Amino acid sequence: MSSQAAHPDRQAFPPEEEANRYSRRSILRSEHMYGEGFQSPGGIEAVEAFCSKLHMREGMKILDFGSGLGGASFYFGERYGATVMGLDFSQEMINISTERKERKSLANVSFQQGDIRTTTLPKDTFDLAWTRDCILYIPEKHLVWQNVYSSLKPGGQLFITDFCKGKGPLSESFIKYLGHCHYYLEDLENYGQALGAAGFRHIRIEDHTKAFIDSLQEELKELNGRRDQFLREWTESDFDYLVNRWLRKIQFCEQGDFIWGLFIAEK
Ligand SMILES: C[S@@+](CC[C@H](N)C(=O)[O-])C[C@H]1O[C@@H](n2cnc3c(N)ncnc32)[C@H](O)[C@@H]1O
Repeated sequence: MSSQAAHPDRQAFPPEEEANRYSRRSILRSEHMYGEGFQSPGGIEAVEAFCSKLHMREGMKILDFGSGLGGASFYFGERYGATVMGLDFSQEMINISTERKERKSLANVSFQQGDIRTTTLPKDTFDLAWTRDCILYIPEKHLVWQNVYSSLKPGGQLFITDFCKGKGPLSESFIKYLGHCHYYLEDLENYGQALGAAGFRHIRIEDHTKAFIDSLQEELKELNGRRDQFLREWTESDFDYLVNRWLRKIQFCEQGDFIWGLFIAEK
């Protein structure tokens, strides 16, 4: 167990609370920052760039876990004619992604509510398991890797972006922040080792913190540039919340506390 898990502020959310972590309002407010369909940095351009690192092909079967608003799932369906299973713990994320799917003619993309730790997945089925910025919420990461590993075809790929922690020592304010947000982070090396322990091979680990900082700064700049437009839909306190949260993330990254990791591995 990491020292982070022993922090007095830390207690895993009970499952029903975790499933209700997001309200429709908080989801749409974050989407305002990240771009349509996303709750993670970089929007569709980041997805395209990440796909160029993978063996993408027409008609592949993809598991998108922690699918959020479905931006990546829709892209896979539209661009690659992929059959996509989007899985997310949050009922509100699933409600919104399903509403949007109904407006598109993408029969091969579907969304279902479920916890990636415990949802029974079809075995040896997926060519790609894709997840963006989801595993940080999960203390029992080994359950995720076991479940996902068994659902991949032999030779299938795993793609992850996720938040990690620096090698330490971590600042007190960052440790508090993790407890407050219920984030459970590993450092890049331990993260990679856990993937190896679950059976994954050819594990590639990249530190994308610099790109994350650039994205955060760009998003802040854009928010400031369309402040008046934002305030027609949202409140001053929403604006301040976003600005403060983004500045805090930048600060934690610059201090070496917060790391944005990218992992690619194969079954
Ligand atoms: C930061 S959002 C990212 C969403 C999406 N991947 C994207 O790139 O826009 C993280 C998502 O992970 C989901 N999530 C958290 N814990 C989960 C779990 N145990 N099983 C499935 N999804 C989970 C959350 O509900 C949320 O939608």
